[in-house]
Amino acid sequence: MQVPFLDLKIQYNSIKKEIDPAIQNVIDNSAFILGKSVSDFEEKFAKEHQVKYCLGTSSGTDANHMVLWSLGIKTGDEVIMPANTFIATAWGATLCGAKPVFVDCHPESYNIDPAKIEAAITKRTIAIVAVHLYGQPADMDPLREIAKKYDLFLVEDAAQAHIAEYKRKRVGGLSDACSFSFYPGKNLGAFGEGGAVTTNSVDTYDYMKKIREHGQSQKYYHSTMGHNYRMEGIQGAVLGIKLGHLSKWTESRRSNAQKYNKLFKEIDSVIPPREMPYAKHVYHLYVIRVNSSDKNNRKETRDHLQKFLNEQGISTGLHYPVPLHLQECFKDLCYKYGDFPVTENLADTGLSLPMFPELSDEQLNYISEKIKEFFKR
Ligand SMILES: Cc1ncc(COP(=O)(O)O)c(C=O)c1O
Repeated sequence: MQVPFLDLKIQYNSIKKEIDPAIQNVIDNSAFILGKSVSDFEEKFAKEHQVKYCLGTSSGTDANHMVLWSLGIKTGDEVIMPANTFIATAWGATLCGAKPVFVDCHPESYNIDPAKIEAAITKRTIAIVAVHLYGQPADMDPLREIAKKYDLFLVEDAAQAHIAEYKRKRVGGLSDACSFSFYPGKNLGAFGEGGAVTTNSVDTYDYMKKIREHGQSQKYYHSTMGHNYRMEGIQGAVLGIKLGHLSKWTESRRSNAQKYNKLFKEIDSVIPPREMPYAKHVYHLYVIRVNSSDKNNRKETRDHLQKFLNEQGISTGLHYPVPLHLQECFKDLCYKYGDFPVTENLADTGLSLPMFPELSDEQLNYISEKIKEFFKR
């Protein structure tokens, strides 16, 4: 049996009748950049996330940059963020000229550990980025308390967490501003690059709107520095249609995660992901860990499992094999192996299993049987 990591073709075929005319409509109107399809989508997306304002952007990476830029973050500032995230979280800070400062993740949520943040704060610290990694919201209440105590901005990176909830409130409006990604493989994916920013502050919204379009609010009058971070019309049309299906797809992801959890109860060598009591996880990724107390061969065991599954037709992923503090591009920041043991453990033992709404029971059973077989050998 072949089990892909994700299958975008099944999803497209299920909504082709809605998507194709929506794309054609953009072409017929030559509304290629921003336009009605994007503004309609922004309105729906903001409503869905219980937040006042939304702007469609050219990518999630650009959205990360816009969020920190709009808050005035600049050269010399330090921005605290988890070591366990995708590199684009850090680009938000570096593109503003600021220094990323990494913090270890929590052993159960895999998100930034609030208990480790205060030790990383200096006179230069200006903001904390809460990443809702794998689709599980970070623990926002303690982060908010720390941000308040030290007078810091708090922002969210929800690239992997569309419509996820923290204490029954949706991500996107839980901080000063938030970024999303619509990279095709995301829970809500465009037909190309795309992202969004959300905020409840009208001033931040106004500034981000200017940044998105060359620092102008009137054509050819540039009151601030800016960039071209606009969303394309076709992406707005596709995302607007897909948003109408997102709740149903998210429930299927959650149901698949519960089925996986049940199957893994029988396998001691697998640590399934934990949905924290405060969270509604949307399972962009379903990351298991190989249960190994032996630091020297834990990575080897995980790598062998990945290879074995691949041989059985099961595609898996690593998120992420090299934590940010150990990336070559950040060698000047002088972090070393051992600085963030929880993140390093996850990098060595974590394995992302196939996860998409249409995953069948047959596929789920096959995956768990093969994992069982691997650990019996
Ligand atoms: C946590 C996180 N932040 C930011 C991004 C960047 O998004 P994009 O690929 O749309 O630029 C991603 C995308 O993978 C991500 O996972």
